[in-house]
Amino acid sequence: MEEKAMFRAVIILLSVVFPAMTVDHSKFKTCDQSSFCRRNRGMQKGMSGYEVIQDSLEVTDDAVRAMLINTKNQVEFILEITALDKNSLHLVINEKNPLHPRYVVRDALFEDLKTIKGFHLESKNTEKAVVEMGNFHPASKIELKFKPFTLDLYSGGDLVISTNSRGLFNIEHLREKKNPAPAVDDAPADSEESNKMDSDHPGQPDEDDVPGMWEEHFQSHFDSKVRGPESISCDFSFIGAEEVYGIPEHADNFALKETKSSDPYRLYNLDVFEYESWSKMALYGSIPFVVAVGEKRSVGLLWLNGAETWIDVQKGPETAVMSSIVNLMSGSNRRSPQVDTHWISESGVIDVYFLLGPGPKDVMSQYGALSGNTPLPPHFALGFHHSRWNYNDENDVKSVDSRMDEVNFPYDFLWLDIEHTDGKKYFTWDAVKFPHPKDMIENLVSKGRKMVTIIDPHIKKDNGYFVHADAQANDLYVKNKDGNEYDGWCWPGSSGYLDFFNPKVQEYWSQQFTLDKYQGSTLDLYTWNDMNEPSVFNGPEITMTKDAKHFGGWEHRDVHNIYGFLHVKSSFDGHLLRSGGKRRPFILTRAFFVGSQRYAAVWTGDNTANWDQLKLTIPMCLSLSISGIGFCGADVGGFFQNPDEELLIRWYQAGAFQPFFRVHSHIETARREPYLYGDETRGLLKKAVMQRYTFMPYWYTLFAEYEHTGVPPMRPLWMEFTADGNTLKMDDQFMLGSALLIAPVLDSRASTIDIYFPGTDAEVWYDIDTFKKFAKPGFELLGVTMASIPVYQRGGTIVPRKMRARRATSLMLNDPITLFVALDKGMRANGTLYMDEGDGYEYRNGKYALIEFSYQNGVLNGRNANPSGGFESKTWLERVVILGMKAAPKSASIVVGKIEEALHFSYDIASESLTVRKPGILMTTSNWNLIIG
Ligand code: NOJ
Repeated sequence: MEEKAMFRAVIILLSVVFPAMTVDHSKFKTCDQSSFCRRNRGMQKGMSGYEVIQDSLEVTDDAVRAMLINTKNQVEFILEITALDKNSLHLVINEKNPLHPRYVVRDALFEDLKTIKGFHLESKNTEKAVVEMGNFHPASKIELKFKPFTLDLYSGGDLVISTNSRGLFNIEHLREKKNPAPAVDDAPADSEESNKMDSDHPGQPDEDDVPGMWEEHFQSHFDSKVRGPESISCDFSFIGAEEVYGIPEHADNFALKETKSSDPYRLYNLDVFEYESWSKMALYGSIPFVVAVGEKRSVGLLWLNGAETWIDVQKGPETAVMSSIVNLMSGSNRRSPQVDTHWISESGVIDVYFLLGPGPKDVMSQYGALSGNTPLPPHFALGFHHSRWNYNDENDVKSVDSRMDEVNFPYDFLWLDIEHTDGKKYFTWDAVKFPHPKDMIENLVSKGRKMVTIIDPHIKKDNGYFVHADAQANDLYVKNKDGNEYDGWCWPGSSGYLDFFNPKVQEYWSQQFTLDKYQGSTLDLYTWNDMNEPSVFNGPEITMTKDAKHFGGWEHRDVHNIYGFLHVKSSFDGHLLRSGGKRRPFILTRAFFVGSQRYAAVWTGDNTANWDQLKLTIPMCLSLSISGIGFCGADVGGFFQNPDEELLIRWYQAGAFQPFFRVHSHIETARREPYLYGDETRGLLKKAVMQRYTFMPYWYTLFAEYEHTGVPPMRPLWMEFTADGNTLKMDDQFMLGSALLIAPVLDSRASTIDIYFPGTDAEVWYDIDTFKKFAKPGFELLGVTMASIPVYQRGGTIVPRKMRARRATSLMLNDPITLFVALDKGMRANGTLYMDEGDGYEYRNGKYALIEFSYQNGVLNGRNANPSGGFESKTWLERVVILGMKAAPKSASIVVGKIEEALHFSYDIASESLTVRKPGILMTTSNWNLIIG
């Protein structure tokens, strides 16, 4: 049989053997099966027994402090509000005299937070105190109501966030266990009743003997809760918000849905086999952060907590109450929109950051200031990655690499999954299959490519394995509740889990990446951190038992969602260590938490080869992007099952415009390397990758800006078109930077696509392939073929591209630039190009070029805004294409200093585009003008 036919036959066979499967719900808890969620969700609205002790209020220049009391049991709490630079407030509420300390999240936030002063008590009476924040823009106020405790935040005179206005605030104080032991929880099975948000479920959380408070069962697993109940909960209403976004990771729509008749959204890092589409179930990572977007302003809220967390979302009738009060005060009849949220965590303290915007990009930079921005990745990491579980041996790697070259298919990275190791012992190689790893890596490097190996956090309990021996000798493992080594089942079988909460473990892990420790590695071998939720095949919900013990005596329950973050942080430090801080790390992680962006890119785990999961790549990556993790992507083609050729093509086309672009698939899937397909399909796959490569200068510029601004490369439309309400629910289009509108084809057999052009009449858009102009906002039904990747450049922007075909992006660094100048209706445009060495940290010492372009009155000006940076490059200006040019010019010339040189050009009347050839100047030239006469 011919190879292609055989390949197809294998695909068909495999899809019969592995039919579509779905997630096993019985393995994962519902809110009702998680006793703290059940207790808090069952609270009666408005029954908050918490009051501010009036006399305790203290307002100083740098903080607002007060005591709260739970009037039902007289337990006292300390409240403190401080302010951060850039319009952010920090609220902490903790027990005054806890029986034991409660867990406060460390490490996740940027270490250099800048607090500011400027609180001033404006007024106080028996009902409330009003405190001004003079240093905020617009001016902000805090209104602290005493009975019950409520905290309202005003910005520019408008109420924007209200805390505990629905009376769901609750902190279960730590307490001694009573004798005899209270009833064991028998969690009811998931039922309709249990899904009601305001059910009058028995057992208010302040009672002492509610089932599930002191111990809990789930399936065959037992959770001994030695500290008893310690959950926290609070409601926040976003006044004026139309929609709320964030709290990744869920395989669901971008705008959060109401949870009135479903479970709440759950944040609990879990390895979910074959996760389903459009679901609020928890997945691999957790970021308890939302952005609330309204017509007038956007705000953000970070609920900093590493324990299991559930979030209810509600819009609708109840919201009328608060909104009508607001409108009464503002004299308006219109009911302003509002979204209510209710946050419930199993332990910890109330630790909340309010980011007051006022614009969505302000919220992004405020969140970046809090949790750190994504550092500029090495240039080549933005290229195209090819992976599968697994490339079998060195010959396989060699053959894949050379067959890609035979068909001239560009790629940057080849990935090795778990089978490359000696018996799933990370930092080792299978001696038979991979006897010469360095040579193998060097061979790829000689072509301008790189390699990645997988390094998971579970450690095979094999006495001959050095990591295990070191872990035992130095006490590096997580413990059971009884103090013995915790044992879990993962790929290698019986495994220990390194306790990354122990600084000694972090240091030990980092050292394993040095070239003398990690035998067979080189500086061109990068890292994939997987299974770090952590995944434990025989644990409750496929993860670690909550009563396992970490360094410092903390239970796993307190820190579960942070485990993967520290694993990745330690790997990142390891990469820096091995290169002496000279090369930029590149790490991919599956689990994540607040701040993970400082260390790694994230992919959306084990998706499936179907159209819904292709669609989901956009909302899932947008949710990550607005939550700090802008370097995100999904397995192209789907991890489980085999995509047909149409789906694979469409997935490449969508993935080419998403930040992390990698094909990956399950060990049981058919091979899907591009050379296995016929000319037509392979040609379309290649076109998508080439398209990606032409935009490398733009991608790199966006990531360089991202490090400074916190505004992600992949953006929801509303981030650029805040006033356009139609963009709020959009899941199938996104912006890449502020210049490109991306609308990939996401439906099978599509012959048309309904594209939404956002904004007002002032906008104009150009098809990047045909240069066709679209000058009216709104939907437009356009024809598509299998070759179509609908992408539009916004009038008023200048996008730098590199149009020469290369086999890897590292070979493109010095290639010449083509500038696409898309004119707006006033015949103007602006843009930037960032360039540096592509790796290393010299750019942080100023060694980079930042070219600013502007076009007006027929003159394109380019100036290097950092001429003294010392960055030199051979990259020159090869071509300028001006879109939206109404008539042919008479001349074109380039002027540098006093020297003017005439240039060749051609004008296409049908597409109204002008192409000016070979201006020829170096891109780093400090100042030049291209004059169209
Ligand atoms: C689970 C990961 O999500 C997947 O991408 C990987 O191939 C397998 N683990 C095997 O390592």
